[in-house]
Amino acid sequence: MCGIFGYVGTRKDAGALVVEGLKNLEYRGYDSWGVACSIGDGFLVKKDIGKISEVNGLQFYEECSLAVAHTRWATHGGVTKENAHPHLSCDKTIAVIHNGIIENFGEIRDELKKKGHTFVSETDTEVIPHLIEEELKTAEDFAAAVRKACLRFEGRFAILALHTASHSLVAARTGSPLIVGVGKDGYYVASDFPAFLKHTKTVQYIDNGEMLVTDGNSIIFSDLATGVEKPKREIEINWSIEQAEKGDFEHFMLKEIMDQKESVARAVNQDEEQIMTLAKAIHDAKGTFLVGCGTAAKACMAAEYFFSVIAEKHVNFAPASEFKLYHHFLKPESLLIVVSQSGETADVLDAMRVAKLKGAKVLAIVNVEGSTIAREADYTLRINAGPERAVASTKALTGQLAVLLLIAYALAGKLRQGKTLLLETSSQIAEMLNPRYVTRLKELAEKIKNDENLYIIGKSWNYPMAMESAIKIQEVSYIHAEGFAGGELKHGPIALIEQDTPCIALVGNDEVTTDVITNSIELKARGAFMIGVAPKKHEVFAEWIKVPDAGPAQAIVNIIPIQVLAYFLAVKRGKNPDMPRNLAKSVTVK
Ligand code: G6P
Repeated sequence: MCGIFGYVGTRKDAGALVVEGLKNLEYRGYDSWGVACSIGDGFLVKKDIGKISEVNGLQFYEECSLAVAHTRWATHGGVTKENAHPHLSCDKTIAVIHNGIIENFGEIRDELKKKGHTFVSETDTEVIPHLIEEELKTAEDFAAAVRKACLRFEGRFAILALHTASHSLVAARTGSPLIVGVGKDGYYVASDFPAFLKHTKTVQYIDNGEMLVTDGNSIIFSDLATGVEKPKREIEINWSIEQAEKGDFEHFMLKEIMDQKESVARAVNQDEEQIMTLAKAIHDAKGTFLVGCGTAAKACMAAEYFFSVIAEKHVNFAPASEFKLYHHFLKPESLLIVVSQSGETADVLDAMRVAKLKGAKVLAIVNVEGSTIAREADYTLRINAGPERAVASTKALTGQLAVLLLIAYALAGKLRQGKTLLLETSSQIAEMLNPRYVTRLKELAEKIKNDENLYIIGKSWNYPMAMESAIKIQEVSYIHAEGFAGGELKHGPIALIEQDTPCIALVGNDEVTTDVITNSIELKARGAFMIGVAPKKHEVFAEWIKVPDAGPAQAIVNIIPIQVLAYFLAVKRGKNPDMPRNLAKSVTVK
């Protein structure tokens, strides 16, 4: 959600550099973009609606060593060129981009208007450069003016403010992510590191309630409220450029689906001692809660079944956005397990704060190293999926499921057994994702691509996977899809089934198999075109997508063919699966 990338240093191609880096943040989801380069006494600004990667000839020939670029996901004010960031001060010497919301922008704007400031957009963001301009009249320097302005803002935000006169870049953060790349030729400040991975892998994190100022030669971090300087460590990140690029694949989504040939095994590769310590923490906790959003929430739901079936342990799932309402049940002895690919989701961070206020401990299962959630949690496990760029989460989900399953086995005192199962499952996935299999799913997509409704059923851990299947299909193909517990069909959804309505059954080889087959027969009797994702063929299936028999890891293997199917449904319907409309990869506002 909103991509931010700024640079200050000795390079003379800062305009082109930030545009190129911003393209690596496109996965975050946006509807307009803008760039500002410091040239002479002011800024050269280019902005528009649409996709930056689709703009031909966007060049910055001018020499420039201070620049900023932004992709905007509209909140205040429609999707227009005027509302796109960067926004400038009246004298055009200050350029600002922003992620988040300035809740009290109305009153600040009225006040600034009275002082003679002119506004050209409907955004909350535009008050920032104008208030900084106002504060600069009395502040000792640019950084002090930004600090004073920020202290007036209510809400969560990340801001980059650039000033031509002092040739400096100031960043401030109270909620949305920001990370600094430390290069030999200057400083890169972005909402995520794919923006600058090509230039440096040395990073420094800016935490909530902090700011930084840099002129390209040095950088100073400080507390936003007090101005007291804060020393920062430099950290090396281990994601490679290749991992963050598409390679020969047409889309990131397909690449990331294929990455699952190895990523599940990487998720399993955890420090056994640490897993046992965490299993003990879950065992001892008085109340364990699992929260996440979107796809990660479906991993949490599946984990409820893992913990129940494998470890006979009761845990409570809630979507992170609902968790606040559970606070009565939290005690200092409670444990909150949060699952998040990005480690930056606002609702998850809020849930963590609710738990911490009650003194409870937090275990985070994340993909992005050094993310806010990873840093704010008491314990962290990484799923090691490598960068996930497509909005639709695929390999992160199977990594999350693998780690949660491993913990359930550890809790049952069977860590080795769990590890063996998951490593076997990983090799089965590698075999399954062969070109013939993928073509088969492509052909199935061709058959159902014009259907406007699709229903998916499952039971046990395949029930959350049915819901996740629906999410995958909805978000990239825009087909109306819904996932149900097989047993719930008769209580409503079956009324929607007509002749040839495509329905998918996610099946395993376990105690609930017969039930799901019975549900499939009920669907077929109402005319459904039944697609079975199952280890064994059954006559009820008009189409059978074979998956390995993976026992308690069945949720992991069953979701993969659906990811492939969703991908081809999107492509065949002419949609770009990497950038679905209205969605963002990382939802950093509430
Ligand atoms: C967004 C993404 C989803 C993701 C969800 C949670 O909605 O589009 O793919 O599952 O956020 O994100 P997280 O980074 O916390 O896993």
